[in-house]
Amino acid sequence: MTQSDFSPSAKDRILIALDFDNADDAIRMTRSLAGNVGGFKVGLELVNAVGFDIFDRLMDAGAERIFYDAKFHDIPNTVAGAVRAAARRGVWMVNVHASGGGAMLRAAREAADTVSHPPLLIGVTILTSIDTATLNRDLRVSGGTSDQVLHLARLAQAVGLDGVVASPQEVAAIRATCGPSFVTVIPGIRPAGVAADDQARVASPRSAVQDGAHYLVVGRAVTATPDPRAAAEAVASEIADAVSAT
Ligand code: C5P
Repeated sequence: MTQSDFSPSAKDRILIALDFDNADDAIRMTRSLAGNVGGFKVGLELVNAVGFDIFDRLMDAGAERIFYDAKFHDIPNTVAGAVRAAARRGVWMVNVHASGGGAMLRAAREAADTVSHPPLLIGVTILTSIDTATLNRDLRVSGGTSDQVLHLARLAQAVGLDGVVASPQEVAAIRATCGPSFVTVIPGIRPAGVAADDQARVASPRSAVQDGAHYLVVGRAVTATPDPRAAAEAVASEIADAVSAT
């Protein structure tokens, strides 16, 4: 993919985080936003709370594209099996920890490619909850988090992953290092005037897109508002403005 290949509509760049502990809320949110956003992120809370049939139920509710935020991290054979199973469920995007190493990432790639429409395979670099002190002290990895993020993004790219999850602060460096066609999936998005909640580092849709973000993961800034569809439309129009200004 080149940057010119990446031309989804503004709304299709929005991935809604379905951070719910029950199926009813997730399905209700999906029904109200389907057609107005690009996809829906299903994380470990939802899937563990309600079971794996949530994927089919969300698709029935209108979710055409599901990002399974699985963050797989295990030996290559086990991760390959898990990615293959997720791909067979028809998820559109799934992620694995890039720190699982090259062999694990290659196994994940091969497993994803066993289905006729492989999901986008995305690497998690360094969790944003890990700062440089934690990286150095607890994980005994030297250097700063940004160096490690770029290192893992390069590794992910070298073994054929489609892209990485990254914080808004890292997207420009990843784009400069890995090029415009390497997919970036960016959480921590807050439109102007919306509370940061527990996110330490946030960016507006406009600045994330200007820095080169492909997909924006948006949770509470849409789902916790009285009118999620209007909130999603406002994010889409901010993205559209940013795209036309670049
Ligand atoms: O509600 P909010 O927009 O903060 O939700 C962001 C979503 O992105 C959550 O599902 C969160 O787990 C996820 N995420 C994140 N920061 C990361 C990786 C994922 O906020 N570094």
